Parts: sequence; structure tokens; C-alpha cells
Amino acid sequence: MELVYTIADLQARLSQWVKQGKTVGLVPTMGALHEGHASLVCRSVAENDVTVVSVFVNPTQFNDPSDLAKYPRTLDADSALLEACRATLAFVPSVVEMYPTPDTRRFSYAPIDTVMEGKYRPGHFNGVCQIVSKLFDAVHPDRAYFGEKDFQQLAVIRAMVKQLDYPIEIVGCPIVREVDGLAMSSRNARLSPEERENALRISQTLFESRTFAASHTVSQTCRFVEDAVAAAPGLRLEYFELVDGDTLQPIANRRDTSYAVGCIAVFCGDVRLIDNIKY
Ligand code: PAF
Repeated sequence: MELVYTIADLQARLSQWVKQGKTVGLVPTMGALHEGHASLVCRSVAENDVTVVSVFVNPTQFNDPSDLAKYPRTLDADSALLEACRATLAFVPSVVEMYPTPDTRRFSYAPIDTVMEGKYRPGHFNGVCQIVSKLFDAVHPDRAYFGEKDFQQLAVIRAMVKQLDYPIEIVGCPIVREVDGLAMSSRNARLSPEERENALRISQTLFESRTFAASHTVSQTCRFVEDAVAAAPGLRLEYFELVDGDTLQPIANRRDTSYAVGCIAVFCGDVRLIDNIKY
């Protein structure tokens, strides 16, 4: 697997492959790769001739500078994982390479991007759209792969692709969980052993809420999750919303939606974790 640092080198490689009629899959990441990322890369390798994985901690999507500073950076381990998954190329640009001048573009997909993460992390999705569109413009992939753990991000990216008419198939891939159920996340690496144990209540609560929801109303289910997280040691709930899986808008009644998703954001110590479950 090759490591490439500039858009010019990336495009030189890509043009050879495209001339040969090869299909290109893109897996955008911020590094600190784990089995969840591996599942995206393996899927892309299975479905495309060439798989490009970008590894770039994108500053414009962080609204909290300390969160950006603490984001894990593990390029050697990342390269080993990508090699093992048989990715073709890792694109590892610098901040100046991706943002030679400040990106002043504004992306707005209300109401999809104004609720939940959009409400609690203002500007986050604008930064995500800035970098993902730059990657799409640099790579021109046939397909791009994103994890469903970032359920709202996937919806925002689909909205961007529709609005800007990118000829790219967006492939959403299922959440990958640790054996005990915790959703895999690069941020898990920042949890102390005690916090790691506390964090387990997040996925447990979501699984329990699915059973609970079968015989209770939406507001009772929200209350169930809020109470369970409040009772769990070391966790602080930022939000839990039961939303329509397509519009991301809160639902009042399960009958109002073809499928509902429970989305949660929780602080475990100072590490912010998100997860979701389909009902
Ligand atoms: O999901 C992520 O890791 C990031 O938001 C993404 C899509 C790579 C953009 O920086």
C-alpha cells in the first residue's frame, strides 16, 4: 500500500487507474483506525478495483479546540491496518494541503443538520461537508463508504451529494461493536479503564430501550433512556432523540415513521461518545 501526501500525487496515481477503466472506492477517515474502519475498507476493497483511504484530522469540523488537540493520531498503526485490509492507497494530507486558504463555503441541509449533533456541535457538519466535498473533488470516487455510527453525518452527506449532484454512490455500513456491545470509536482509546466500563451502559441502555419501546410510547422510551443514563456512574447525557430514520426529525409516535432510530450523545468523563439503534 502506498502513502501519498499531496493532491497532485494522488491525482497522478488515480489518472493511471481511471485510464485503465478501474473503479475507485473512497473511505474518508480521521485516522486512529479500528475494526469499524476496517469493515468500511474491506467492503470498498470487495466492491472496487482501487480503494483510497484518506487519513486526515479535519480541523474545520471541531467546534472544541481541546477535542481537536486530543484527537488520537496513530499513523503507523493505521498504515498497518490498511495494509492488512489491502487498501490500495492512503492519502495523508497536511492541513495546508487541504486548506491552502480558509474555506468560506457554507453548507446547509436544514432541518437534517440542525438537530442533535447540529444543535450541540454548531458548525460541525459544515466542516464535515467542506472536507468531504474536497475529498470527492480530489478523488472522484465511484463509491464512498461511511459508518452508520455517525448516522446523522451519513444523512447530511447524502443530502450534500444530492444537492451538488455528485455521481457517487454513498454506501452506509453497519455499526461495528466491541464484543460487549460498545460501539467502536476512535475516541474509545481516550477512555480510562473505569470510563471504559462506565461507557458500556450506553449500548446496553440502547438495547434495553428497543425492548422497552415495543410496549411503550416514544416519550416513555425517551424517559427510560434518560433515567438509565442518569443512574449510570460517570455518564452525562447530552441528548437522546427518537427520530425518523430519513428526516432525522424527532417523532411523537412510532406510527409516524417507516423506521425510527434512537440517537444518543453521552459524556463519559470528558470523552464525548455517540451511538444509535434502529427500532
Ligand atoms: O466520520 C469521520 O471520521 C469524519 O467526520 C470524516 C467523514 C472522515 C470527515 O472528516
